[in-house]
Amino acid sequence: MRLLAISGSLRSGSYNSALLDAAEAEIPADVEFVLWRDLAAIPAFNEDLERAPPPSVMSLRREIARSDALLIATPEYNRSVPGALKNALDWVSRPFATNALRNKPVAVVGASQSLFGAVWAQAELRKILATIGARVQDRDLPVAQAHEAFTEGRLRDPRLAARLRVIVAALVDSAEQRAA
Ligand code: FNR
Repeated sequence: MRLLAISGSLRSGSYNSALLDAAEAEIPADVEFVLWRDLAAIPAFNEDLERAPPPSVMSLRREIARSDALLIATPEYNRSVPGALKNALDWVSRPFATNALRNKPVAVVGASQSLFGAVWAQAELRKILATIGARVQDRDLPVAQAHEAFTEGRLRDPRLAARLRVIVAALVDSAEQRAA
């Protein structure tokens, strides 16, 4: 099984990327964890380009299509999803009927430096993914005060670490059920 991980942050020291590292530590040995790193290469969506999408978009669609499940860690910008991540998902959502996310098991987590742990961004991202047709897990992981949340590549708070394990296990489960 192949799990594709996407961080919605372009920042080199991103806490959301750190959250994906913490998730990787919870992945069963027989699951391949692949971190997609090309968010910065996706140009602004333009319907005029839909017939011949840029190579970076085709590559993202292929990466999603060949993966069994997706884990997305989103920052929160102005109580919503960062534009770069939303833009990439707009590209992936086309053509709507056959898009690469349709029926794909997806889980959303998020970290922010505030007390709320990107809860609004995660809720909005789940709404976007459900609209696109993904099988979105109805759970979130609000990692608040992210600048203090990690130690040695893992979540410091054992309750959050346990919740992350549940999310990863449910995602793997959902992908296995879909494959069966
Ligand atoms: C933020 N940040 C932020 N945090 C939050 O909890 N709610 C918010 O609405 C916002 N809004 C916001 C807007 C913009 C433009 C920036 C740059 C930042 C702070 C944000 O949580 C913080 O920068 C995180 O560290 C971003 O995630 P990464 O890059 O660490 O993954």
